[in-house]
Amino acid sequence: MLEISWVFIALGAWLIALAFLTKKFNHPKRKLPPGPRPWPIIGNLNLLGSLPHESLHHLSLKYGDLMLLKFGSKPVLIASSPEMAKEILKTHDAIFASRPALAAGKYTSFNYSDITWAPYGAYWRHARKIYLTEVFNPRSLDSLEYIRIEERRILTSRLFPLSGKPIFLKDHLPLFALRMISRSVMSDKYFSDHYDQSNSDASIVTFETLQQMLDEWFFFGGSINLGDWVPWLSWFDLQGYVKRMKELGKNWTEFYKYVIEDHKSKRQTKKDFIPKDMIDVLLHLADNPNLQIKLTADNLMGLMHNFITGGTDTSAATIEWGFQELLRIPNIIEKAHQELDRAIGKERWVEEKDFSQLPYIDAIIKETFRLHPLCALLPPHYSTEDCTVAGYDIPKGTAAYINVWSIGRNSKYWDRPEEFIPERFIENNIDMKGQNFSLLPFGSGRRRCPGYNFGIKVVGTTMADLLHGFNWKLAGNLEDISMEEIYGLTTHPKRPISMIMEPRLPLHLY
Ligand code: HEM
Repeated sequence: MLEISWVFIALGAWLIALAFLTKKFNHPKRKLPPGPRPWPIIGNLNLLGSLPHESLHHLSLKYGDLMLLKFGSKPVLIASSPEMAKEILKTHDAIFASRPALAAGKYTSFNYSDITWAPYGAYWRHARKIYLTEVFNPRSLDSLEYIRIEERRILTSRLFPLSGKPIFLKDHLPLFALRMISRSVMSDKYFSDHYDQSNSDASIVTFETLQQMLDEWFFFGGSINLGDWVPWLSWFDLQGYVKRMKELGKNWTEFYKYVIEDHKSKRQTKKDFIPKDMIDVLLHLADNPNLQIKLTADNLMGLMHNFITGGTDTSAATIEWGFQELLRIPNIIEKAHQELDRAIGKERWVEEKDFSQLPYIDAIIKETFRLHPLCALLPPHYSTEDCTVAGYDIPKGTAAYINVWSIGRNSKYWDRPEEFIPERFIENNIDMKGQNFSLLPFGSGRRRCPGYNFGIKVVGTTMADLLHGFNWKLAGNLEDISMEEIYGLTTHPKRPISMIMEPRLPLHLY
């Protein structure tokens, strides 16, 4: 008996010594950022509520603006101030330019083929270059302006007959955004909606189905899938997410295959075919044998997916948030009307080139982005090397979330941060393109949104036209307005508000 005890004591001492030595030699004096103590298996996942950006914001008030948490067994860095965002997105931009390999990217984005989920490397670089030079260059953006104008007219003329009745913008903006991006990218809608049966030949889904596919994509992009963070649990798919992601991936594949085949057949019927839309440009590139990196079928679908996901939800939800705020403060709408009447007059709609004459509308949009950044947490960045951030040692393989929602509420940078005050941007012309780390609605650095120019044109002119074309008021009471959010890769109002509009321009314009 005595001998067995000695064996245990010796074994115990040996294990303790081994653990000590391993720690000492593997991580000599590693200094990690502060953070809550993790639990076995789940790490700190128990601390995330249904709105992770808010949970993380509250934790940052206790642990500081750079925290290290564990999601399951994996290290996760959270940056909650402009200084810390700058450390990650500028000082260590190249090291944090990758994305963690999450199930959402694998199953709903064609095996990491869209730019958003592609790991940092040759394919991602190539895809972004195609995006910015071949597809979304200023010339092609300008050549598509007529579609944006037509779709804004369709939106305002659909709203017009509803004047005087309570409406929800949520019932109109997503359809507007999806029509506009589909026509810009694919020349056709490929979905049917109850207003317009004219091109039902090319439609393969209904608007409702396509919108539901988009909603699901954004939901999974922002959700915490347990198997991503506790790999041995991935096999069980306890939340059922992976099963649903695979189903969603199949539906998107079916949709894009149809669009690609339709474009290919149109190409074959014409002898000297000239690419007409962005899908034509991508197909043309895929046929090029000298292309540095051959585009696979997954790559093509991934790139098409970026247009559809990037160009729809983002602009529709931003405008919805803007109105949610404006209806609480009618005085701001009045000031916007004064500016529009002065700069545009009452005989025409707003055009993209007018925007430099509309600093107050621009300020409304910036203030909307400050309080309601579409990506409350930027999609996760991922470190590919060990590095030191603000004096702390961050190991390779750490996911990093920038809490843009929290940064927009930082009282060190924003006076009365909880209030919607567009005037703050009149006095202080802050840039939104990622140069100023206190306002990051499009991110910054290598992964900054490549759709910035398109997105800002759509949000700006649509918001301006809706304000120019109508007087707006609440259908219910002020207390009915809720700023509650639904979380996902993008954040939406949980309770859209009912509003009433009346035309304010001559009737022939609607
Ligand atoms: C109001 C409009 C928009 C907003 C607020 C927005 C916001 C963002 C944000 C915050 C990111 C992440 C940046 C990061 O990870 O650091 C992003 C990435 C991206 N956006 Fe946008 N976006 C908008 C419009 C668009 C449009 C119109 C497109 C394309 C049609 C687009 C395509 C993309 C793509 C492909 C990425 C991934 C970039 C990468 O990972 O390298 N976005 N966007």
